[in-house]
Amino acid sequence: TATMLQFKLVLLGDSSVGKSSIVHRFVKDSFDEFRESTIGAAFLSQTIKLEKHPDVTIKFEIWDTAGQERYKSLAPMYYRNANAALIVYDVTQPGSLVKAQSWVEELKNKVGDQDLVICLAGNKVDICDEDATAREVQREDAQLYAQEQGLLFYETSAKTGAGVSAIFQEIGERVYQK
Ligand code: GTP
Ligand code: MG
Repeated sequence: TATMLQFKLVLLGDSSVGKSSIVHRFVKDSFDEFRESTIGAAFLSQTIKLEKHPDVTIKFEIWDTAGQERYKSLAPMYYRNANAALIVYDVTQPGSLVKAQSWVEELKNKVGDQDLVICLAGNKVDICDEDATAREVQREDAQLYAQEQGLLFYETSAKTGAGVSAIFQEIGERVYQK
């Protein structure tokens, strides 16, 4: 029997790591080199079929939050009641992983990871594919951290689309299993 489920997903992470770009890749399959920084938050939705359960359709209601420090106090409005959180860092900016880790802590303290599926995504891998010396966060290091914290982990490129649909498939699958 066909099932349709609605899940609320929040994107968190430092400014300019590519949160909005990941969402636009997922929702519109497009990329903009000169995307403007998000003000407050943006809402988008997208529906997918689970590859492992083709009779299950999932509608993601996505809150793309603004990473700039001045908007930090708004975040709880968006992560409260979320089914999933996608926390993004930039693989060329080590400080953005530190920021991502502080979001993980905040979610674990304020929401608890019982009901919340958390996924860590290292974005902009296309830059390292072009120039290996640009990489500042090793995949293994971030993956080990994610494993210790019980998070899903992916590396992505909003520019090429690498890893983007896989993330939403995996999140959809995990939230469906809960
Ligand atoms: P805030 O809204 O300020 O929190 O930033 P954000 O995390 O939404 O970042 P945004 O998606 O606006 O991207 C910031 C810049 O990085 C833009 O110029 C994008 O074009 C660029 N960008 C985003 N994702 C990628 C990527 O995967 N690869 C490359 N090369 N550039 C990217
Ligand atoms: Mg944005």
